[in-house]
Amino acid sequence: MSSIVISIGGSIISGEKLNLELMKKISKTLAIIDSYDKFGIVVGGGKLARTYISDLREYNINDNILDEIGINATRINALAMTTFFDNVNSKIPTNINDAAELSHNYRYVIMGGTEPGHTTDTVSVLFAERIGAEILINATSVDGVYSSDPKKDKNAVKYDKLTYDEAIELSIKNSTGAGSNVFMDLTSLTIAKRSKIKIFVINGNYMDQYKNIMYNGKCNGTVIS
Ligand code: UTP
Repeated sequence: MSSIVISIGGSIISGEKLNLELMKKISKTLAIIDSYDKFGIVVGGGKLARTYISDLREYNINDNILDEIGINATRINALAMTTFFDNVNSKIPTNINDAAELSHNYRYVIMGGTEPGHTTDTVSVLFAERIGAEILINATSVDGVYSSDPKKDKNAVKYDKLTYDEAIELSIKNSTGAGSNVFMDLTSLTIAKRSKIKIFVINGNYMDQYKNIMYNGKCNGTVIS
Protein backbone atom coordinates (compact mmCIF):
# COMPACT_ATOMS: atom_id res chain seq x y z
CA MET A 1 0.00 0.00 0.00
CA SER A 2 1.17 3.50 -0.59
CA SER A 3 0.64 7.21 -0.19
CA ILE A 4 -0.59 9.88 -2.54
CA VAL A 5 -0.86 13.65 -2.16
CA ILE A 6 -3.67 15.73 -3.60
CA SER A 7 -3.39 19.49 -3.87
CA ILE A 8 -6.83 21.08 -3.97
CA GLY A 9 -6.56 24.50 -5.62
CA GLY A 10 -8.28 27.23 -3.66
CA SER A 11 -9.97 28.31 -6.89
CA ILE A 12 -12.18 25.20 -6.98
CA ILE A 13 -13.30 25.17 -3.37
CA SER A 14 -13.36 28.84 -2.41
CA GLY A 15 -15.07 31.10 -4.96
CA GLU A 16 -18.05 33.41 -4.45
CA LYS A 17 -19.27 30.71 -2.07
CA LEU A 18 -17.49 27.79 -0.42
CA ASN A 19 -17.91 24.77 -2.69
CA LEU A 20 -18.93 22.35 0.05
CA GLU A 21 -20.56 19.98 -2.45
CA LEU A 22 -17.19 19.47 -4.13
CA MET A 23 -15.49 18.79 -0.78
CA LYS A 24 -18.16 16.19 -0.09
CA LYS A 25 -17.74 14.61 -3.53
CA ILE A 26 -13.97 14.38 -3.13
CA SER A 27 -14.34 12.76 0.28
CA LYS A 28 -16.82 10.19 -1.08
CA THR A 29 -14.54 9.44 -4.05
CA LEU A 30 -11.48 8.91 -1.87
CA ALA A 31 -13.39 6.79 0.66
CA ILE A 32 -13.78 3.95 -1.82
CA ILE A 33 -10.23 4.04 -3.23
CA ASP A 34 -8.30 0.92 -2.25
CA SER A 35 -5.19 1.41 -4.38
CA TYR A 36 -3.79 3.85 -1.77
CA ASP A 37 -4.09 3.83 2.00
CA LYS A 38 -2.62 7.23 2.98
CA PHE A 39 -3.80 10.52 1.54
CA GLY A 40 -2.14 13.88 2.08
CA ILE A 41 -4.53 16.66 1.10
CA VAL A 42 -3.26 20.23 0.80
CA VAL A 43 -5.87 22.95 0.41
CA GLY A 44 -5.36 26.39 -1.19
CA GLY A 45 -6.68 29.77 -0.12
CA GLY A 46 -8.88 30.71 -3.09
CA LYS A 47 -11.09 33.79 -2.96
CA LEU A 48 -10.75 34.06 0.82
CA ALA A 49 -6.97 34.54 0.53
CA ARG A 50 -7.16 36.72 -2.58
CA THR A 51 -9.70 39.14 -1.09
CA TYR A 52 -7.69 39.78 2.07
CA ILE A 53 -4.36 39.98 0.24
CA SER A 54 -5.52 42.34 -2.50
CA ASP A 55 -7.45 44.63 -0.12
CA LEU A 56 -4.55 44.87 2.34
CA ARG A 57 -1.99 45.37 -0.44
CA GLU A 58 -3.61 48.75 -1.16
CA TYR A 59 -2.45 49.83 2.30
CA ASN A 60 1.20 48.91 1.62
CA ILE A 61 1.19 46.01 4.08
CA ASN A 62 4.44 44.08 3.74
CA ASP A 63 4.48 40.85 1.74
CA ASN A 64 5.50 38.65 4.66
CA ILE A 65 2.34 39.62 6.54
CA LEU A 66 0.24 39.20 3.39
CA ASP A 67 1.65 35.68 3.05
CA GLU A 68 0.75 34.97 6.70
CA ILE A 69 -2.79 36.12 5.97
CA GLY A 70 -2.87 33.85 2.92
CA ILE A 71 -1.60 30.93 5.01
CA ASN A 72 -4.36 31.45 7.54
CA ALA A 73 -6.94 31.47 4.74
CA THR A 74 -5.60 28.12 3.45
CA ARG A 75 -5.88 26.69 6.98
CA ILE A 76 -9.50 27.83 7.32
CA ASN A 77 -10.31 26.08 4.03
CA ALA A 78 -8.38 22.99 5.17
CA LEU A 79 -10.35 22.88 8.42
CA ALA A 80 -13.62 23.20 6.50
CA MET A 81 -12.50 20.28 4.32
CA THR A 82 -11.81 18.03 7.34
CA THR A 83 -15.48 18.16 8.32
CA PHE A 84 -16.35 15.95 5.33
CA PHE A 85 -13.86 13.18 6.19
CA ASP A 86 -13.65 10.34 8.70
CA ASN A 87 -10.29 9.06 9.96
CA VAL A 88 -8.79 12.54 9.56
CA ASN A 89 -6.79 15.01 11.69
CA SER A 90 -8.89 17.49 13.66
CA LYS A 91 -6.14 20.10 14.06
CA ILE A 92 -4.43 21.55 11.00
CA PRO A 93 -0.66 20.91 11.09
CA THR A 94 1.48 24.00 10.53
CA ASN A 95 4.55 22.26 9.12
CA ILE A 96 5.54 19.15 7.16
CA ASN A 97 7.07 17.38 10.20
CA ASP A 98 3.78 17.51 12.07
CA ALA A 99 1.81 16.52 8.97
CA ALA A 100 4.09 13.51 8.41
CA GLU A 101 3.66 12.49 12.05
CA LEU A 102 -0.13 12.70 11.76
CA SER A 103 -0.05 10.52 8.66
CA HIS A 104 0.94 7.57 10.90
CA ASN A 105 -2.39 7.89 12.70
CA TYR A 106 -4.90 8.88 10.07
CA ARG A 107 -5.90 7.75 6.58
CA TYR A 108 -6.26 11.41 5.57
CA VAL A 109 -4.08 14.32 6.66
CA ILE A 110 -5.47 17.67 5.54
CA MET A 111 -3.41 20.84 5.76
CA GLY A 112 -2.95 24.30 4.24
CA GLY A 113 0.15 26.49 3.99
CA THR A 114 3.27 26.38 6.13
CA GLU A 115 5.43 29.50 5.89
CA PRO A 116 5.74 32.71 3.82
CA GLY A 117 7.53 32.74 0.48
CA HIS A 118 5.77 30.00 -1.43
CA THR A 119 2.28 28.64 -2.14
CA THR A 120 0.50 25.40 -1.31
CA ASP A 121 1.99 23.97 -4.54
CA THR A 122 5.32 23.75 -2.72
CA VAL A 123 3.70 22.46 0.47
CA SER A 124 2.05 19.62 -1.45
CA VAL A 125 5.28 18.55 -3.18
CA LEU A 126 7.22 18.72 0.10
CA PHE A 127 4.54 16.63 1.79
CA ALA A 128 4.71 14.08 -1.05
CA GLU A 129 8.50 13.97 -0.84
CA ARG A 130 8.40 13.50 2.90
CA ILE A 131 5.90 10.63 3.02
CA GLY A 132 7.36 8.94 -0.06
CA ALA A 133 4.36 9.58 -2.32
CA GLU A 134 5.37 9.02 -5.93
CA ILE A 135 2.30 10.78 -7.30
CA LEU A 136 0.84 14.23 -6.74
CA ILE A 137 -2.56 15.22 -8.09
CA ASN A 138 -2.86 18.96 -8.64
CA ALA A 139 -6.61 19.62 -8.78
CA THR A 140 -7.22 22.99 -10.40
CA SER A 141 -9.97 24.92 -12.20
CA VAL A 142 -8.51 24.27 -15.68
CA ASP A 143 -8.11 20.92 -17.38
CA GLY A 144 -4.31 20.91 -17.56
CA VAL A 145 -1.27 23.04 -18.23
CA TYR A 146 -1.47 25.51 -21.13
CA SER A 147 1.17 27.54 -22.96
CA SER A 148 -0.49 30.66 -21.48
CA ASP A 149 -3.56 31.38 -19.38
CA PRO A 150 -6.47 29.83 -21.37
CA LYS A 151 -8.94 32.13 -19.57
CA LYS A 152 -7.18 35.14 -21.13
CA ASP A 153 -5.56 33.82 -24.31
CA LYS A 154 -7.72 31.98 -26.88
CA ASN A 155 -4.58 30.73 -28.67
CA ALA A 156 -3.29 28.96 -25.55
CA VAL A 157 -2.22 25.37 -26.31
CA LYS A 158 -2.76 22.53 -23.83
CA TYR A 159 0.05 20.07 -23.11
CA ASP A 160 -0.69 16.37 -22.50
CA LYS A 161 2.73 15.88 -20.95
CA LEU A 162 5.77 17.91 -19.96
CA THR A 163 9.21 17.04 -18.64
CA TYR A 164 10.21 18.69 -15.36
CA ASP A 165 12.54 21.01 -17.26
CA GLU A 166 9.83 22.03 -19.73
CA ALA A 167 7.44 22.72 -16.84
CA ILE A 168 10.09 24.77 -15.02
CA GLU A 169 10.76 26.82 -18.16
CA LEU A 170 7.03 27.45 -18.64
CA SER A 171 6.56 28.41 -14.99
CA ILE A 172 9.39 30.97 -15.26
CA LYS A 173 8.03 32.34 -18.55
CA ASN A 174 4.48 32.71 -17.23
CA SER A 175 5.46 34.24 -13.91
CA THR A 176 6.91 37.35 -15.51
CA GLY A 177 4.35 40.12 -15.86
CA ALA A 178 1.71 41.56 -13.58
CA GLY A 179 -1.29 39.45 -12.70
CA SER A 180 0.36 36.25 -13.89
CA ASN A 181 -1.29 33.07 -12.75
CA VAL A 182 1.29 30.30 -12.83
CA PHE A 183 0.08 26.67 -12.95
CA MET A 184 2.66 25.66 -10.30
CA ASP A 185 5.37 27.67 -8.58
CA LEU A 186 9.02 27.17 -9.45
CA THR A 187 10.11 25.73 -6.10
CA SER A 188 7.45 23.04 -6.24
CA LEU A 189 8.60 21.90 -9.70
CA THR A 190 12.25 21.89 -8.65
CA ILE A 191 11.48 19.68 -5.67
CA ALA A 192 9.29 17.38 -7.78
CA LYS A 193 12.21 17.02 -10.21
CA ARG A 194 14.78 16.11 -7.55
CA SER A 195 12.54 13.41 -6.08
CA LYS A 196 10.92 12.33 -9.37
CA ILE A 197 7.39 12.95 -8.11
CA LYS A 198 4.97 12.51 -11.00
CA ILE A 199 2.45 15.37 -11.15
CA PHE A 200 -1.01 15.08 -12.69
CA VAL A 201 -2.61 18.48 -13.31
CA ILE A 202 -6.36 18.00 -13.71
CA ASN A 203 -9.66 19.81 -13.53
CA GLY A 204 -10.49 18.95 -9.93
CA ASN A 205 -14.25 19.14 -10.45
CA TYR A 206 -14.41 15.76 -12.20
CA MET A 207 -14.27 12.69 -9.96
CA ASP A 208 -13.47 10.30 -12.85
CA GLN A 209 -10.13 12.09 -13.23
CA TYR A 210 -9.05 11.29 -9.66
CA LYS A 211 -10.17 7.66 -10.03
CA ASN A 212 -8.45 7.18 -13.38
CA ILE A 213 -5.16 8.42 -11.94
CA MET A 214 -5.38 6.32 -8.81
CA TYR A 215 -6.34 3.11 -10.61
CA ASN A 216 -4.81 3.47 -14.09
CA GLY A 217 -2.16 6.21 -13.78
CA LYS A 218 -3.92 8.18 -16.53
CA CYS A 219 -5.77 11.50 -16.85
CA ASN A 220 -7.10 13.93 -19.45
CA GLY A 221 -4.99 16.75 -18.05
CA THR A 222 -1.21 17.19 -18.11
CA VAL A 223 1.37 14.78 -16.72
CA ILE A 224 4.67 16.27 -15.56
CA SER A 225 7.39 13.65 -15.16
P1 UTP B 1 -2.37 29.35 -2.33
O1 UTP B 1 -1.49 28.18 -2.30
O2 UTP B 1 -3.83 29.14 -2.44
O3 UTP B 1 -1.85 30.39 -3.42
O4 UTP B 1 -2.08 30.24 -1.04
P2 UTP B 1 -2.12 30.56 -4.96
O5 UTP B 1 -1.50 29.45 -5.71
O6 UTP B 1 -1.62 31.96 -5.23
O7 UTP B 1 -3.70 30.51 -5.12
P3 UTP B 1 -4.59 29.75 -6.22
O8 UTP B 1 -4.41 28.28 -6.01
O9 UTP B 1 -4.09 30.23 -7.55
O10 UTP B 1 -5.99 30.21 -5.86
C1 UTP B 1 -2.64 31.54 -0.89
C2 UTP B 1 -1.58 32.52 -0.47
O11 UTP B 1 -1.10 32.21 0.85
C3 UTP B 1 0.29 32.43 0.95
C4 UTP B 1 0.74 33.03 -0.36
O12 UTP B 1 0.64 34.45 -0.26
C5 UTP B 1 -0.31 32.51 -1.34
O13 UTP B 1 -0.44 33.32 -2.49
N1 UTP B 1 1.00 31.15 1.31
C6 UTP B 1 0.37 29.95 1.13
C7 UTP B 1 2.27 31.19 1.87
O14 UTP B 1 2.87 32.26 2.03
N2 UTP B 1 2.86 30.02 2.26
C8 UTP B 1 2.27 28.80 2.09
O15 UTP B 1 2.85 27.77 2.48
C9 UTP B 1 0.99 28.78 1.50
